[in-house]
Amino acid sequence: MTRIIGVMSGKGGVGKTTLVSNLGVSLSQGGKKVGIIDANLSGANLGLHFGLISYPTSVHDVMRGNTSLTDAMYKHPSGIDIVPASLSIEDLDVEPSNIRQQIMESMSDKDYVLIDCATGLDRETMKAMEMVDDVILVTHPELPTISDALRTKTIAKKYDKNVLGIVLNRVSKSDELKKENISAFFDLPVIGVIPEDHSIRRSIEAKNPITLEHPKHQISQEIHCVANYIMGKKCAQKRSFMDKIKSFFRK
Ligand SMILES: Nc1ncnc2c1ncn2[C@@H]1O[C@H](COP(=O)(O)OP(=O)(O)O)[C@@H](O)[C@H]1O
Ligand SMILES: [Mg+2]
Repeated sequence: MTRIIGVMSGKGGVGKTTLVSNLGVSLSQGGKKVGIIDANLSGANLGLHFGLISYPTSVHDVMRGNTSLTDAMYKHPSGIDIVPASLSIEDLDVEPSNIRQQIMESMSDKDYVLIDCATGLDRETMKAMEMVDDVILVTHPELPTISDALRTKTIAKKYDKNVLGIVLNRVSKSDELKKENISAFFDLPVIGVIPEDHSIRRSIEAKNPITLEHPKHQISQEIHCVANYIMGKKCAQKRSFMDKIKSFFRK
């Protein structure tokens, strides 16, 4: 049975799209069939993470009822199917709609469909909320971002969605708020702790998610943990030789 998982946050720029692209790859590396959909209609950029720049059909066309979801799906060499959103400002007027039925029909071969959601609680997010079974919340370990994410959790619960947990992104050693405090604050497990690392930006520029380019990188290992959590497996972190050297010198 296909599970539709929404990756959401209260604030923008916290790392939702980066997580969706890398988590999609990681789940696929774990042997699962994966689709990812850009539901950030007014801030589309999921396709760019995979080098998809120009494409004849997008999720916007699906929402307009002009094309089928299958025709808006692009197969990436990693094995995942990507449904990008349009980058054109001409398409900004599209009315967000709930395409759950199409997903269940056209992506029924998938184990997981990840939805890259818009930010906050506007109509795009609310339509995405209706589509999903589960929600993952992404936040930075800082109070204003956490408090916005908490609002999203409250709405997800109101919609009777299963909130899987929190992914903390851009974490650094100097952060005041620790994983345990944040978990208690949300009353949810922290299912991923992704450090601040410039390699993320490099991989985005290379149009190649870091889990594909460097599957053993510390960031990739953290994302594999999130994937394992979703798949109901234990998280076994394998650190690369370089990571071991780096942490030796950090001591
Ligand atoms: N762990 C990280 N370390 C460093 N930079 C990051 C990290 N995660 C994301 N970024 C940067 O933050 C930017 C915004 O991330 P993005 O995934 O687009 O956020 P959102 O989808 O929530 O708006 C990215 O372009 C990337 O450069
Ligand atoms: Mg985004």
